[in-house]
Amino acid sequence: MTPTTDTSWTKESWRARPALQQPAYPDDAHLEDALARLAALPPIVVSWEVDQLRHRLAAAQRGEAFVLQGGNCAETFAECESDYIASQLKVLLQMSLVLLHGLKRPIVRIGRMAGQYAKPRSSDFETREGVTLPSFRGDNVNRAEFTAEARTPDPELLLRGHERAALTLNFARALVDGGFADLHHPEYWDLRWVEHSPLKDEFHRIAGSIADALDFFEGMSGLRVHEASHVDFFASHEGLHLQAETAQTRYLPHQERWYNLATHMPWIGLRTAHLDGAHVEYFRGISNPIGVKIGPDMDPEWIAGLVEILNPDDVPGRLTLIHRYGADRVEDRLPEAIEAVKNTGKSVLWLTDPMHGNTETSSGGLKTRKFENILSEVEQSFEIHAQMGSHLGGVHIEVTGEDVTECTGGARGLTDLDLDRAYRSTVDPRLNYEQALEMALLVADKARRT
Ligand code: PEP
Ligand code: CO
Repeated sequence: MTPTTDTSWTKESWRARPALQQPAYPDDAHLEDALARLAALPPIVVSWEVDQLRHRLAAAQRGEAFVLQGGNCAETFAECESDYIASQLKVLLQMSLVLLHGLKRPIVRIGRMAGQYAKPRSSDFETREGVTLPSFRGDNVNRAEFTAEARTPDPELLLRGHERAALTLNFARALVDGGFADLHHPEYWDLRWVEHSPLKDEFHRIAGSIADALDFFEGMSGLRVHEASHVDFFASHEGLHLQAETAQTRYLPHQERWYNLATHMPWIGLRTAHLDGAHVEYFRGISNPIGVKIGPDMDPEWIAGLVEILNPDDVPGRLTLIHRYGADRVEDRLPEAIEAVKNTGKSVLWLTDPMHGNTETSSGGLKTRKFENILSEVEQSFEIHAQMGSHLGGVHIEVTGEDVTECTGGARGLTDLDLDRAYRSTVDPRLNYEQALEMALLVADKARRT
């Protein structure tokens, strides 16, 4: 976190390391030109917000707040439109309201939003009917359509992605600042669907009780609860495309530190978290709060190494480890990860991502996840942390405000047969609004009881 005293780090020092999951652009000069234009554009966020999030995460690390990080697996350029962004924001705010009510702790809200446009792929190429083309790597890189033209990485898309990230965060924050998320009026938060949900009474009861509590407090004290009356909202994305991340990485002389100003909280994905890899090298030098995904193949030395390299000064709120083992493996793998971090003598914020270790193929051949497995991984995570004298500081989920059918289970009991009805994700299956709200109720319940 203090790269100014570490002359071995520069914002380009990652280039000497193996950089996995990077697109192969056909025209270097075009790429360099696009990156120069990207670097000249104003940033998406500013450093004091980034620092503010680090302080909020430090509170979660101490057990004084709870983190809800969520959004799409991948944002798309086509979905950068007002209704879509509003419903995405609403589902996150409603989940946070339910969590706030259950936990009686501030909720730190972080969207997988405003820049989640680059995806890792298991293979560089995809073959269909004898034709092989580059894999689709997200809207920042190429287009999903299966033609040579669409699949060729295009550096101009990085600029389009930056513009859309700015539009998205601008709109989301204007909604939040304008009272869209005013806790005095949680009835305004309703999505169209709440009226038809099996959980509608429970949600209305919670919303009403929060509004009553605020009225009561303000009536007694004569004070407005400014802090609680409106919420903060932060952006995060996987910091996968290192050239693009570097273009928005700046040295701020008044802070004497480097910041990635493309987002508040970038994270390192599972496939790029190697200790000697380019991503870890890049991330160690920026001052943002950062996340790293932790999976079943990481041994204790690897996890301890991440903590030592990424947070050598043990800065509170700096490092979030997001574990994603799967419901069937978390019990076996999480204890040694917690132990490995303890042995470093440093502390981290722990989140669970109960989505990515629970992906399976439905009977109809669709990528899906079972609600019960997602919930089970969350519940086991709470218990294991508590048993080991650690604590789970939040959840990281893939969710949409739309009425999709991508994950099975939940109060409405979706089955494999329902998936075809409204399966929209081109990447990972997301909880729909109703499943998300139910998950929030159950997470709050478990957190309270653990
Ligand atoms: C993701 O968060 O969409 C993702 C690809 O996760 P992971 O890196 O944990 O596999
Ligand atoms: Co995903």
